[in-house]
Order: sequence, then C-alpha cells, then structure tokens
Amino acid sequence: MTWLKNRQITPFGKVTTDVIIRAAQEFGTPLYLYDESVIVRKCAEALSMPSAFGLTVRYAVKANASRALLQLIHAQGLQLDLSTLYEARRAILAGIPCDRMMLTSQQVPGGKDREDLESMIRNGLTYTVCSLRQLTLISDFASRHGIPLALRINPGVGAGESVTRNTGDNYSSFGIHLAALDRAAELIRDRGLTVRQVHVHIGSGGDPDMWRDNIDRELQITEKYFPDADTVNLGGGFREARMPDETAADIQVLGEHARDRFEDFARRTGRKLHMVIEPGTLIMANAGYVVARVVDEKWSGPTGFEFIIIDAGMEINTRPLLYGSRHPFYIVSENGTLLSSEYDLNAMKYELDFRVVVGRCCESGDSQSLDHQGHIIPRMMADPEIGDLFVIGGTGAYCSAMSLANYNSLVKAPEVLLRTDGTLRLIRKRQTLKQVVEDELALE
Ligand SMILES: Cc1ncc(COP(=O)(O)O)c(C=O)c1O
Repeated sequence: MTWLKNRQITPFGKVTTDVIIRAAQEFGTPLYLYDESVIVRKCAEALSMPSAFGLTVRYAVKANASRALLQLIHAQGLQLDLSTLYEARRAILAGIPCDRMMLTSQQVPGGKDREDLESMIRNGLTYTVCSLRQLTLISDFASRHGIPLALRINPGVGAGESVTRNTGDNYSSFGIHLAALDRAAELIRDRGLTVRQVHVHIGSGGDPDMWRDNIDRELQITEKYFPDADTVNLGGGFREARMPDETAADIQVLGEHARDRFEDFARRTGRKLHMVIEPGTLIMANAGYVVARVVDEKWSGPTGFEFIIIDAGMEINTRPLLYGSRHPFYIVSENGTLLSSEYDLNAMKYELDFRVVVGRCCESGDSQSLDHQGHIIPRMMADPEIGDLFVIGGTGAYCSAMSLANYNSLVKAPEVLLRTDGTLRLIRKRQTLKQVVEDELALE
C-alpha cells in the first residue's frame, strides 16, 4: 500500500504527500499552503507575455495580500495593483515603495485618507481615477503638482467566471462608463489634467476571446479620448485551469495578439504605447492548497448523499458558495498515502465513489462542491478514514484574502509557504480567539 507514498499530488509544483503530512503535523489543520516554485514560475510566465513596446506586470494584491507573498512576488519584478488605501498601506508595511504601486479604487478618500493618498502619490504611486467625482476631487492637487493620472473606463462589455465577476458591462459600476467619457474628457481639458494611462479590467476568469477583443476596444477609446496617454492597462482576469477539465487562457497567444494590435496602432497614429497587465489569479490560484482534516461522516439516506465533514469550509474557501467555482480534491491518508486525486482518478487503487464534502459552519451552503445556484454536486473520491487529510487545490487566490473568517467564531487559518529548498515557513500565524474578540467592548 506504499506505492502512492511521497508522491507529488498535483501537476503544478512541488507539493507531495509528505509535504502535506509535514505541514499538518507542524502547523495543525486547517491551513493554507503555498508553493513558492509555482509562484516564481507564474511570475516569470506573466513577465514573458509578448508586447510591442514594453510591458509592466502588476500583481493584483486583492488575490492574496499576505506580507511574505507580496515581498516574494515583488522580488520577481512585478509591481502592484491595489484596490484600497488599506491595501496600499499594507504594501508599504511590507516594504514596497510607492513608485511600484498603482491604486484603482472605488473609495473616495476624505480627511486623513485623502492626506495619505496625496502623500503616496507624491511618493510615486500611480492613481487611477475611477469616477467623475474622483476626477473632480483630485484635479486641484494633480494640476498643482503636475501629476499625470490614470483613468479606469467601463467599456460596456465585460466577461467573468460568473455574473458577479464581470466588471465591464452595463451592470458594473467600475470605472467611468463609455457613455460618460465626453464629460470626463471635458473635465480633463478644463482643469489642465494629463491622463497618461488608460485602464480597463473587464472581469475575472472570463472568456479569453473577450479579453482579446477588449484590446481593440481600449485602443479605440485611447485614440478618441486620450491624446496624452502613453500607456494602456489591459487589466487582469486571465482564466486559470484549476480543474483537470478546465482550460487556462494562453498568455503567449493573448500577448502576441496584443503586440500586433499595439504595433498596428503605432503605424496608424505614431504612438508607441506601453502595455500593463494586472494578474492576480494567474499568479496565485494554482500555487495554493487548503490542508484540512476529515473529522466526521454522515449519510442522508438512500436518496441522499454520503457526506464527508472536514475542519475547513466556506470560511476558508468561499469561492464554491460565491461563484459555484470548482476546486480539485485530494485525499491523503494519515500515513501519507495518496488515496485519491481528481488529477489522476484512473490511477487510483482505492475504491472510489460519489461523495459530498462539507465544512463546520452552521450553513447549508457550507460545501466545497456547489453549482452556480448553490446545489450540492457530489464528486468522485476515495472513502477517507476519520483523521485523513483532505486537500483542496487551486486555493491560492481569493481564498485566504476573501475568507469569511470568524463566522461561527472560527479563527482565521495560518498560511505556510513551501520554499523552493523544501522547507516549510509559517507566514501567517493561526488567529486566536483572543484576537477575534479583542476589539469588542462589553456593556459593563
Ligand atoms: C482592477 C483589477 N485588476 C486586476 C484584477 C485581478 O483579476 P484576476 O485575479 O482575475 O487576474 C482585478 C480583480 O478583480 C481588478 O478588479
């Protein structure tokens, strides 16, 4: 029964069954485990995207903002895409200089926030205006200091993994809509502002063909409205394949298309535009795992399901509940044998059957396998023993960062990085109950 021992559990990197066992023994379950070798490789993949006149890659910090990861990703040569002033402050705490940051936010900073924003801009942060109000509020400061701006546009066409991940159509409030661009251009002219960078992010995990088609749309907008722009930011949103039957966006193919379109634009207009992308999912999704433990099992009768209860659920990986996303499952026995892997079901020596995986939250949506309407979808896997480890793949992006931690007063799970030398490094401690309640005030 040892043939599957110390085996790499996924096609993505260096995580083996031994690594899973070691991480669980050393840090307890549940935990998030990240594979440095995958992060480094994905950063290199993003940086190798073809472009016509130069490329800047900004890591979308919202995907995972853990300090060690920001430092690691920044050290690979990526700059940062930030969505809030808090993310910017967090990046500064991680030691990343403002001139490596771009802030594209729904926030309208006032008071101290406004002061901080202006100080960050003076230190080199690129500020993306996302509404007419933001444009009006920043205009005095920007024209007084001669600071060029970026401007986010909603092109009216978007694409996402789910309806809620589409940020480019008429249902989306992100950026200044195409229909309001005349007004924006007028304000820019009247207030003597310079827009250097045109920004569009149409959504996350959508159809790569729509991402490709957005390039021409954005170049047309740049040509019509932004004569001073020297940079076009195409956003993030590259679809990743977390499950074996999913297909990832091809960065090389998309880059080659972008290069052609930017070259064509240069031939027609004489303008050689710099290109920016802002991947989050691409860098982190398949670098991460949730390592959980099987704690119970139940059966809901002959017409029901076989449930496996693990010590991690919607509070650790909310994506199945939020988007109907699928993540690959792996089961590792307590002695380190790989009992089942959705990447290699045919090779499994153990009896497999359809089962449902649920967490500990008092919520019927707390399952790791749901469709877009929230219906439970059983999945093929081995029959684990209580105490075996249940691993959920594809959980590096929008899992720890988007967790519903503290629901049911569950504490936030620790984060561990598998270094390229094989060592395990704790990069976030497990939260304590004391930390959960420390800001609460008693009546007496
Ligand atoms: C402005 C912006 N850029 C980049 C991203 C990153 O998207 P993804 O993680 O799909 O690459 C997002 C995600 O919401 C975003 O809003």
